[in-house]
Amino acid sequence: MPAIPAADYRRVLGQFPTGVVVVTTAGPSGPAGLSVNAFSAVSLHPPLIGFFPAHTSGSWPVIRETGTFCVNILAADQEQLARLFATPGADRFAGLEYSAAPKSGAPLIKGVAGWLDCRIEAVTQAGDHDFVLGRVLALDTDPAIAPLIYHRGGYLPA
Ligand SMILES: Cc1cc2nc3c(=O)[nH]c(=O)nc-3n(C[C@H](O)[C@H](O)[C@H](O)COP(=O)(O)O)c2cc1C
Repeated sequence: MPAIPAADYRRVLGQFPTGVVVVTTAGPSGPAGLSVNAFSAVSLHPPLIGFFPAHTSGSWPVIRETGTFCVNILAADQEQLARLFATPGADRFAGLEYSAAPKSGAPLIKGVAGWLDCRIEAVTQAGDHDFVLGRVLALDTDPAIAPLIYHRGGYLPA
C-alpha cells in the first residue's frame, strides 16, 4: 500500500464539512470533555451514534470508565468552546454554564444546538483512534439555534 502523507490526508478530509461536538462525562473526579468532529449518526433502530477519540486523549479514558456521556452539538456562536475543549491543560469547565443531562448527569452545555445523552454500547480500536458506539438514551434540539460548521481547519461562520 502506498504511504499517504499526513498533510494530504488533512487537506482532502478538510473538504468534508462537519459540525463540532463536545463530548462530556460526569467523571468520578469531576467533569471531563473534549472537542470532536469525528462524530456520526450510525443507526436509527436502535438509536446509535459514534465518535472517534484519539489514543492520546486524556478525557476518553474518563468517559470510558464512567460508561456514559453527553454529546453537545455546538452552536454557530460557540467557536470559543470548540477551541477551549481542544486546549490541553485548560480548565475547561471553569465559568462554563451547564446543567446535568437527564440520564447520565454529564455536562449539558447551555446554548448548544442539540444534545444526545448516551451510554457506551461498544468500543473498537480504529488505527490510532478508538471507535465508540453509543446508545442514545435521550436527546433534544433547539431548531432556532444554528450549528457551528468546521472545514478546511477553520470555522463557519468566520
Ligand atoms: C474542531 C476539532 C475537532 C476535533 N476532533 C477530534 C476528534 O474527532 N477526535 C479526537 O480525539 N480529537 C479531536 N480533536 C482534538 C481534541 O479536542 C484535543 O486533542 C483535546 O485537547 C483532547 O482533550 P483530552 O486530552 O482532554 O481528551 C478535535 C479538535 C478540534 C478543534
